[in-house]
Amino acid sequence: TITHLSALEILDSRSRPTLQVTLGLAGGVTVSAGVPSGASTGTREAVELRDGDPARFSGGGVATAVNNVNTEIADHLVGRNLTTLAEADEAMQGLDGTPNKARLGANAIVGVSMALARALATADGKPLHAWLPGFGQAPRLPVPCFNVLNGGAHAPNPLDFQEFMVCPLGAPSMAEAVRSGAEVYAALKKRLAAGGHSTGLGDEGGFAPNLAEPEEVLAMIVAAITDAGYTPGTTGVAIALDPAASEFRQGDGSYRVNGQSLSSDDMIERYAAMVDAYPIWSIEDGLGEDDHDGWQRLTTRLGERIQLMGDDNFCTNPAIISEAISDGIANSALIKLNQIGSVTETLEAMAICHRAGYTQMVSHRSGETPDTFIADLAVATGCGQIKTGAPARGERVAKYNRLIEIAASNPALPFGRV
Ligand code: PGA
Ligand code: ZN
Repeated sequence: TITHLSALEILDSRSRPTLQVTLGLAGGVTVSAGVPSGASTGTREAVELRDGDPARFSGGGVATAVNNVNTEIADHLVGRNLTTLAEADEAMQGLDGTPNKARLGANAIVGVSMALARALATADGKPLHAWLPGFGQAPRLPVPCFNVLNGGAHAPNPLDFQEFMVCPLGAPSMAEAVRSGAEVYAALKKRLAAGGHSTGLGDEGGFAPNLAEPEEVLAMIVAAITDAGYTPGTTGVAIALDPAASEFRQGDGSYRVNGQSLSSDDMIERYAAMVDAYPIWSIEDGLGEDDHDGWQRLTTRLGERIQLMGDDNFCTNPAIISEAISDGIANSALIKLNQIGSVTETLEAMAICHRAGYTQMVSHRSGETPDTFIADLAVATGCGQIKTGAPARGERVAKYNRLIEIAASNPALPFGRV
């Protein structure tokens, strides 16, 4: 039985308000959860409720969502005999009454859902990763994808592509993978500085130099991987991209990259050339969320060679992902708790992917708190991949450090992608 439920308006890593939810169970367990928040969001994500009061945080306050936890949601859940997380998640969905959690706020609901999962695990005497239910993928430690260079909506530089990640696919263990990430990050910093570039950071802790051409960045990252003593490629350290193409898709359906106007097919051929020339093993949101036909052609063109991941077009939404699977779009899904707004539905989305042979990568948001829920989620679901920013900035390294801790206490857990 839930005996206490409350929320506070706290700050995320971008200095915007978010929620911290505190939940207590009969028996004395009390835990908290911090809610993440994105900047380059999919239009079909569950609704993040913001106050819109220009007098506070330029309209970005979450006092209404906090109040919804403290009053309506607490009134509905506290004292009730809800035995499972799924029951509670369903109860909140019913209470909200909208298909996208627009009334109470997905930020309110997901915070309660995360806190409840954590509390139930604690009450069971289990670490979260050992308590969260799986769905046929055995637990394993995920390959960390470190976003070492930021552009797009996450940095003020002229780079249109949002994320350039280094992924130590060939690392023998979690700790060694984190070490590779940190060493490549340090090598890249040195290279940028030597080239007269800024080493200031973007929202996810990657560098945000004044570079505009994606291929120039790729060449620099490959050089940094070599500088750090690793082999560029799937046996060593490979590269993953999240261009977040919805952000640079124009009203006429074209894509604007470094001042050039490109069609969907131009983009697809550009990616094909990049995959030929650089050790890229995964591309997320290579095309815009509405570019349905382009996504099908992209999947046909590159789906046998690399991982093609849907984020803005999938929104961790079981129904949307099911439809995309039947339409032959992508072969992988990015997984973000707050895109759908509950732990139960997140697990459902991952199970659907698993059954269809789509890989999954658990993900942070560009606005984060030190909460490490997603580290445990990635391990429990055995998806084998996580992205949670650069190996720098407290809110990012908290997740990587949690993975190191889980690995150390569970030496039998396998490491690596599936
Ligand atoms: P967001 O970016 O958290 O700002 O949405 C992350 C992503 O696009 O993967
Ligand atoms: Zn993305």
